[in-house]
Formats: sequence, C-alpha cells, structure tokens
Amino acid sequence: MARNKIALIGAGQIGGTLAHLAGLKELGDIVLFDIAEGTPQGKALDLAESSPVDGFDATLSGANDYKAIQGADVVIVTAGVPRKPGMSRDDLLGINLKVMDAVGAGIKQNAPDAFVICITNPLDAMVWALQKSSGLPANKVVGMAGVLDSARFRYFLSEATGVSVKDIHAMTLGGHGDDMVPLVRYSTVGGVPLPELVKSGWLTQEKLDAIVDRTRKGGGEIVALLKTGSAFYAPAASAIAMAESYLKDQKRVLPVAAYLNGEYGVKDTYVGVPALIGANGVEKIIEVSFDAAEEEQFAKSLTSVQGLIAACKQINPALA
Ligand code: APR
Repeated sequence: MARNKIALIGAGQIGGTLAHLAGLKELGDIVLFDIAEGTPQGKALDLAESSPVDGFDATLSGANDYKAIQGADVVIVTAGVPRKPGMSRDDLLGINLKVMDAVGAGIKQNAPDAFVICITNPLDAMVWALQKSSGLPANKVVGMAGVLDSARFRYFLSEATGVSVKDIHAMTLGGHGDDMVPLVRYSTVGGVPLPELVKSGWLTQEKLDAIVDRTRKGGGEIVALLKTGSAFYAPAASAIAMAESYLKDQKRVLPVAAYLNGEYGVKDTYVGVPALIGANGVEKIIEVSFDAAEEEQFAKSLTSVQGLIAACKQINPALA
C-alpha cells in the first residue's frame, strides 16, 4: 500500500516540528510548502538526513509551488505570522485572513480530498475562513486548539498532584483565547473529577483556580519567555495527534475547533468542542451539558469568536 501523503503549509517553527514528528512516527511522506524560498527545501533535506539515524522511512521534500501538495491525505496549515510579545491573537486577524485565502485556493485546487487541520491564529476565525476559501466539506476542516489547551491543563495538573500525565484527562472548550473554557467538572486525575480532588484535600481550590488561569494564559506565557515567537513543540504534537486519529481511523475524542451547525445551539461557527475524529474526519460532535457558570463562560467565549468571524466577513465580504 502506498504511503500516506502529508502536506504542511508553512515551514516555520511549527511546520518544521510537524515534519519531524510525522517522520519519526512514520505517518507518511511529507511535503513542506512555504512562500519563503529555500526554507521548506532546507528543512526537508535536514530532516531527511536525520532519517537514517532515527531509522524512519519517509520521503521529505520542500516546495514553493502548490502543485507539490497534490493528492495530500492530510494538510496541516501553519502559514501566517505568529504572535509577537504584546500582540494579541486578534491583532493577527487581517494579515492571516489574506494568507488563508491563498492557502484555501491551493488546497481546493490540489488536495480537495484531504483532512485539513488549521493551526494559524486567531484560530477559530482562521479555520472558519479556511473552510470557506477551500470549499472543502466542514467535517474535513478542523482547527487545532483544544488538544493543546487541554495538554497544558493536564501538564499543570500533573505538576501539582505528582500523577503521571497519562492518567490525567482534561477538557478545554470554547475559543482559543484567554476566555477559553477549561471544564473542571469533566477533567479527572486518575479518574477522579477535579471537584472531588478538591473535596478530598489533594488539591486546594486556590491551586486549581491558579492552574485554570495559567491554562487560559498558556500561549502568552510562552510568547513572553521566547520573545521572538510563539509555542511550537506542543502545538505540533497536538496537531499530529489529530492527524493520526484521522489517518489510522482511531476514532479518538479530542477537543477541536469544529464546525457547528446547530450543535450547542450554534450555527455557522467554528469553536472548540469534543469531537470524534476518524476516517471521515469529524464523525461526531459530542455535546456535554453545562452548569450555569460553564454556560456563561462558553457564551462569552463564543461571543468573542463570533466577533472575529464578523470582522473577517467585514474585511472580505466574499466569505459571508
Ligand atoms: N503561504 C505559505 N506560507 C506562508 C505564507 C503564505 N501565504 N505566509 C507566511 N508563510 C510562512 C512563513 O514564511 C513562515 O515560514 O508561514 C511560516 C510561519 O512560521 P513561523 O513564523 O515560524 O510561525 P509558527 O511559530 O510556525 O506559527 C505559525 O501558528 O500558532 C500559530 O500563531 C501562530 O499563526 C501562527 C502559526
């Protein structure tokens, strides 16, 4: 059987890490695409030269022409400009919207059957725009945010409790912004829901609140430390988990930015919800019930996502 083909649009920090992980996991042959000449070619060659050492079989190539992504099974999009210190994800809107236009056209023409994962920020608005500009079915276009936000939540919980990250599950829904919704009631350590953990005295409410707050600001914390860019290792690992669930029909339930068409009472919007990812892309959106506080937080997060989508429509009325 021929290998799968994975196209990475954007060969920057996340793109290079995606290529490395996809190679190490032997997910398929990899094409790095970028508008910068030499960057995708250089990264592809460097990574290919690591394959004999790590012992993985994959063809890696770099390109500046969309034809190279022809027939891709998975396309992961990181093209755009990352956040600089002091810049919000929303500041990026205008610049990256134009990039999504070009990327969507490239995918439409060359990889219309692909499962597309968008990482470019502001995430929920960019994946919405990318679905429109690519014209691909909404179940085949998703955004990566929740896996990353939940991974941060899980890591902080692991640090605080001393429990293996493997035994910690966490759910973070809503938009990929500082008003995301880490769902404490649906998150567990060793199967024990976090409110029970607080009741038993293992974790104080103050500590849990601080972890929730740090999770919300997780992206900004890395930006402030790196100073010249944003996070890339954890975002790349998160998108690879989504790609793997699709390529191997794993049917994992992952929090992703998915197109809502009535679910959660929302229409024509991308926002973070738990979704089952298998060979047909988003095969099911899982609807969890909210208590009053969660409902309020989700509504607030949704309002900011819808504000960004409205801004996209204003900048480019063709998307409306
Ligand atoms: N087409 C293809 N590639 C493009 C385009 C375009 N129109 N515009 C920019 N790029 C490329 C840049 O040349 C660069 O190599 O996108 C790449 C982005 O890489 P980085 O600047 O290193 O950014 P990265 O850290 O990988 O983050 C990418 O993900 O998390 C988000 O906010 C982040 O939107 C940003 C994206």
